[in-house]
Amino acid sequence: MKTAREIAEVRRIVSEARAAGRTVGFVPTMGGLHEGHLSLIDAARAECSFTVASIFLNPTQFAPSEDLSTYPRSIEADLDACRTRGVDLVFIPEVETMHRGDALTTVTVSRLTETLCGRSRPTHFAGVCTVVTKLLNIVAPDKAFFGQKDYQQLAIIAQMVCDLDIPVEVKSCPIVREPDGLAMSTRNQRLSPEARLQATVLHRALTLAREQIRQSRPPASEVIASARAVIQNEAPAGELDYLQIVDPKTLRDVETTDDGVLIAVAVKFPGARLIDNMLVDSTAPRQ
Ligand code: PAJ
Repeated sequence: MKTAREIAEVRRIVSEARAAGRTVGFVPTMGGLHEGHLSLIDAARAECSFTVASIFLNPTQFAPSEDLSTYPRSIEADLDACRTRGVDLVFIPEVETMHRGDALTTVTVSRLTETLCGRSRPTHFAGVCTVVTKLLNIVAPDKAFFGQKDYQQLAIIAQMVCDLDIPVEVKSCPIVREPDGLAMSTRNQRLSPEARLQATVLHRALTLAREQIRQSRPPASEVIASARAVIQNEAPAGELDYLQIVDPKTLRDVETTDDGVLIAVAVKFPGARLIDNMLVDSTAPRQ
């Protein structure tokens, strides 16, 4: 496995791989790797013959009040995991390499960024879109792999890649969960033992909402009310940020649950804000 810290080095190694006839799969991450990240690497390896991962804790997607300084870092373990899973090249840039002081350009996507996480994190997605655009320009992969765990991020990046004609195929990978249902996240390790137990409520509330929708397709407001009650009753340490039922394409709130919908939730626990979501397929028969 190769590692590179400089942009020119990445470009050289990737173009050599391409010249040797390899197809390039790319998995961008912020490190603190867990099985969710590694499932993206497995997907990239299954579809492409040269796999690039990046580990870059991107400061511009954190607001000053957020958890950049306490975000878990584990670079040596991350590199070991990448090696074990068969990554060919890891890009580990310094902050100054990705964010030069004289930059004047930001990539913003409208509308899709104004709901869900965008409401409480108004500058977050501009940071994500700008750094992902730069990473895609640097690595120039055939396919880039993102997790449905961050459904809104995936939808925004897919829109951005389409709007800007970036020549990459965006691939979406399923959410990897702990045995008790909690979606894997680097931030889970920031939870106290008590909050960790309560954190399973996100998955329980989503599952309950999905079952209600599958059984009787009630109005979204009814489903939201009962899922909110579950979270408030079972996670006293958590503060609900949002629980919304939206159209999976536009991310706009829906009133009826007859068509396919996305249920998305964010809860702030001391130490970590957690997000999760579930798609309810419109084609699934009523139960
Ligand atoms: P990070 O949170 O490290 O996540 C990197 C990728 O792993 C994202 O595509 C995310 O959706 C995916 N992922 C995280 N947990 C997952 C899980 N439990 N199951 C499946 N996939 C999971 O997302 C970012 O970094 C950054 O915003 C980034 C895109 C790298 C830009 O800085």
